[in-house]
Amino acid sequence: MLKNLRQKAMTIISDTDASVDVRLQGICTLLKESVPYYDWVGFYFKNGNKEELKLGPYAGEPTDHTIIPFGKGICGQVAVSNKNLVVPDVKAQDNYIACSLNVKSEIVVPLFVNGKNIGQIDIDSNSSNPFTQEDERFLEFVNREVAKIL
Ligand code: SME
Repeated sequence: MLKNLRQKAMTIISDTDASVDVRLQGICTLLKESVPYYDWVGFYFKNGNKEELKLGPYAGEPTDHTIIPFGKGICGQVAVSNKNLVVPDVKAQDNYIACSLNVKSEIVVPLFVNGKNIGQIDIDSNSSNPFTQEDERFLEFVNREVAKIL
């Protein structure tokens, strides 16, 4: 299923008539609408020179967490570790920022431009333990392609 989404994602990303934000919004909406266990999909980016993340385009319920300090929550941990973080059960994570009581699991994959971690894609799921290596490879692909238009 995720394999078929790669082409659709590419079509959105390569639409040079649309602004970068519109394209990122399109990616969030595509992923949320196409994958049953993707319930919230958003991009966070490093906020200028500050050691914090700022919410970019997203699809799903609005969140209060538009700014996340480096090191805090799943997102803040990935900003520091530069590594994918898959959390099958958010209740088992001490360093977690709850956005919605319905969320059971989360995956965050860093986004690199010229080898620098400049942001991430964050996905919340209302299902328990839904994410596999296929999700990781797919989201790494999306971020690699997004990096080319930033
Ligand atoms: N749960 C995230 C916060 C962002 S929301 O999921 C949109 C975290 O722990 O970093």
